[in-house]
Amino acid sequence: MRMYRIAPLAGCLLLLAFCAAACGPKEGPGAPARLPLAKRAWKTDIATDHPLVGRFYEAATFREVTEDVVADSCAQATYVLLGEKHDNADHHTEQARLLGAMITRKRSPAVVLEMIETDMGDQVAQYMDRQTASSADFGEAMNWEKRGWGPWERYKPIMDVTFAAKLPIVAGGIPQVRASAIAHHGESAVDAEDRKAFLLDETMDPNLESSLHTELVQAHCGHLPSSMVRGMLLAERARDAGMANAMAPFESRGAVLIAGNGHTRTDRGVPWALARKAPNARMVSVSMIEVADGRTDPKAYDVHADFVFFTPRATDLDPCIAFKMELQRRRRQ
Ligand code: HEM
Repeated sequence: MRMYRIAPLAGCLLLLAFCAAACGPKEGPGAPARLPLAKRAWKTDIATDHPLVGRFYEAATFREVTEDVVADSCAQATYVLLGEKHDNADHHTEQARLLGAMITRKRSPAVVLEMIETDMGDQVAQYMDRQTASSADFGEAMNWEKRGWGPWERYKPIMDVTFAAKLPIVAGGIPQVRASAIAHHGESAVDAEDRKAFLLDETMDPNLESSLHTELVQAHCGHLPSSMVRGMLLAERARDAGMANAMAPFESRGAVLIAGNGHTRTDRGVPWALARKAPNARMVSVSMIEVADGRTDPKAYDVHADFVFFTPRATDLDPCIAFKMELQRRRRQ
């Protein structure tokens, strides 16, 4: 008798166990993700309880993946692009983690930084020659904050990893004066050699150019004179190609780029230029993206990367108020 009473109970438990595995949350809009959350001590504090925070997704499928999958993929690539929103400290911590994970996987890539301009190469070399060179005051030596890249402490985790593993630090940004000359004078500011180096003779898909145009106009909050847009577009393309030029020579050891998400985007950013400089090289781009309230489906985000990692937001300040504040800061300099 007992046997008969236990059997249905066991059957129920089995069914429950099966359901927990098979009848759990399905993928799709609004469905909760299934992997355990990446544990982080967030430095930013807006929307930390958003359901996407701390989750990685493969952008092609929007399948949730683990940090290990992303790290393995980075470790297998020649060129890795780690995108950020410049003012989000958690983005830099995550870039540092992925760089560290690549080193654990026996890689020792060059670290190419958008924030260091190519005419600062000597400044970097002289600093690195010092016995006391360290991640602690690298930022000050590079005038990091004065040049508008925010508090050094935000970026320091990336340099902690870089210095500890003795990775080469490579200037990636084209000089500001160069970008400014192209923005103001357009084609006439670029000689034949630079046209080639910056791939300005290559035709970009008009839809992609138009998306860059829109981004530039929006980023400057209506303050961009229409006469300057063409020059700005060329300057941005030159910036992307300049970063690709800085990465390309490191094909044998590999290179990791630290740059804004606009530059690391796979459709028209540095990868577009890099694909023309090193057509057979394997590239992986990871975008760090801030969550938006009420947007719990990863597909609802504008992702142009191989992988995306969602983080809390650093600020809720209106971007156009931030723009005005930044303009005032620049004028005070
Ligand atoms: C707080 C946000 C921003 C502020 C205050 C700002 C301000 C400015 C200013 C004042 C210039 C003119 C510099 C000159 O005359 O030489 C400029 C140029 C430029 N900006 Fe922005 N900008 C901002 C964000 C962005 C973003 C997000 C992008 C990319 C989509 C961008 C791309 C460019 C480019 C390509 C140029 C021309 C090259 C250069 O002078 O650097 N800017 N920006």
